[in-house]
Amino acid sequence: MSDARIAQPGDTIVIASDHAGVELKSQMAGDLKRMGFTVKDLGTNSSDSVDYPDFGHAVGKAVETHDAKAGVVICGTGIGISIAVNRHPGVRAALVHDDMTARMAREHNDANVMAIGARIVPADRARALLKIFFETPFEGGRHARRVEKLG
Ligand code: RB5
Repeated sequence: MSDARIAQPGDTIVIASDHAGVELKSQMAGDLKRMGFTVKDLGTNSSDSVDYPDFGHAVGKAVETHDAKAGVVICGTGIGISIAVNRHPGVRAALVHDDMTARMAREHNDANVMAIGARIVPADRARALLKIFFETPFEGGRHARRVEKLG
């Protein structure tokens, strides 16, 4: 497996969701552990209604400050929490919904946060996309120049 994957076994991955994504988050945290990562769950941890920006910013801050190598964020659509996490310098969050978006987010965009909508993508598919995202290396080359221009 290429070292251009976003994280290597042992690296820390942060994961967070709002109330819409709690169950999927716990499944994905287990998947990430089985992939060999150290997982930090930043909440939320109940179905009580919360505000997705609070959890997106928590993941954004951890990736921005290099406390974590990469992240996963989940809300109902994945939209709100992806907007929040992308406001942090150095974060490239990609909202994925199928095999191609999960793969291209890594190959072309070197995304370091995967965002997904728990009310959009069925859990078994979402978990398959998680695997694709973390197993796919960045292609580099012309894409490196473009990613550089993202700032
Ligand atoms: C919460 O109801 C919902 O708005 C949130 O999970 C997300 O879909 C926002 O983008």
